[in-house]
Amino acid sequence: MPARQSSLHWALGLLALFLTFTSVIADTAGCGKAPTLTSGTKTMTVNGKSRRWIVRLPNNYDRAVPHRLVFGVHWRDADYGAVDGGSAPYYGLRSRMNNTIFVAPDGLNKGWANSGGEDITFFDQIIKAVSDDLCINEKLIFSLGFSYGGAMSYSLACSRPKVFRGVAILSGALLSGCASTTEPVAFYQQHGVRDSVLQLSMGKSLRDSMIKRNGCASKNAGEPAKNSRQRVKTTYECKAGFPLVFTAFDGDHVALPNDSGSDGGANSWTLNEVYTFFSQFS
Ligand SMILES: *[C@@H]1O[C@H](CO)[C@@H](O)[C@H](O)[C@H]1NC(C)=O
Ligand SMILES: *[C@@H]1O[C@H](CO)[C@@H](O)[C@H](O)[C@H]1NC(C)=O
Repeated sequence: MPARQSSLHWALGLLALFLTFTSVIADTAGCGKAPTLTSGTKTMTVNGKSRRWIVRLPNNYDRAVPHRLVFGVHWRDADYGAVDGGSAPYYGLRSRMNNTIFVAPDGLNKGWANSGGEDITFFDQIIKAVSDDLCINEKLIFSLGFSYGGAMSYSLACSRPKVFRGVAILSGALLSGCASTTEPVAFYQQHGVRDSVLQLSMGKSLRDSMIKRNGCASKNAGEPAKNSRQRVKTTYECKAGFPLVFTAFDGDHVALPNDSGSDGGANSWTLNEVYTFFSQFS
């Protein structure tokens, strides 16, 4: 074989090896398997307690394609059905994000107290069950939630920064604990300047912690005046791969605000923001 052809041969061989290797790292054990999990409600035992969760596969689920895994986490005094159903399932993402497995876990006592880290363990077990059975790209695992569900998503970013590629916090606060504040996680956050349940300052303290973790340059984030019907989005300059976006909107404690700050449901601008933020990763 001429020298030139043989080095091309070697280069292609190495490339193939590299591609195989990287796909082995990112794709889970469920890739290629006929799935046993079907869309619907499941139960599992976590630290001796029975826990419920809902999983949704795309209609055209393809076992050969690594999927995103997105958790939609419910707010206080609600349950997993509120995230899975309603006018905007999974905060509106389910109808627009393809190649994605959605999961709605159910909190104990309709909340996410995460006592002794038991809710983190619940998520760990769901991720294991889903990854072993379905084809997941383990570099594309996300969580999003409103209020207590935002607090739980933040807690996941603290406890499992290497598992979660990104989180989206809709009007959240520090309510479910934070085990560690050192490692970066891509972070989308929004909060109402008129929030009467979890004050804006509570949201900003999560943001400020993430600014440090993600190595972002400090920046003056603008805030709209109350009753201005405006919103101000600030995109920070951070460590590559760990973006941070913060939107302050003129509104109260609502999950999916529209441009009058009321709950706009499936018409909220939030859907585009979270969709764009999560889909920038591949
Ligand atoms: C998924 O959605 C993206 C963005 O809308 C699109 O570019 C892509 O082709 C879609 N993929 C599939 C498999 O439908
Ligand atoms: C926002 O949503 C509320 C409640 O659904 C609705 O009454 C209002 O007309 C909407 N405003 C805009 C600007 O979309």
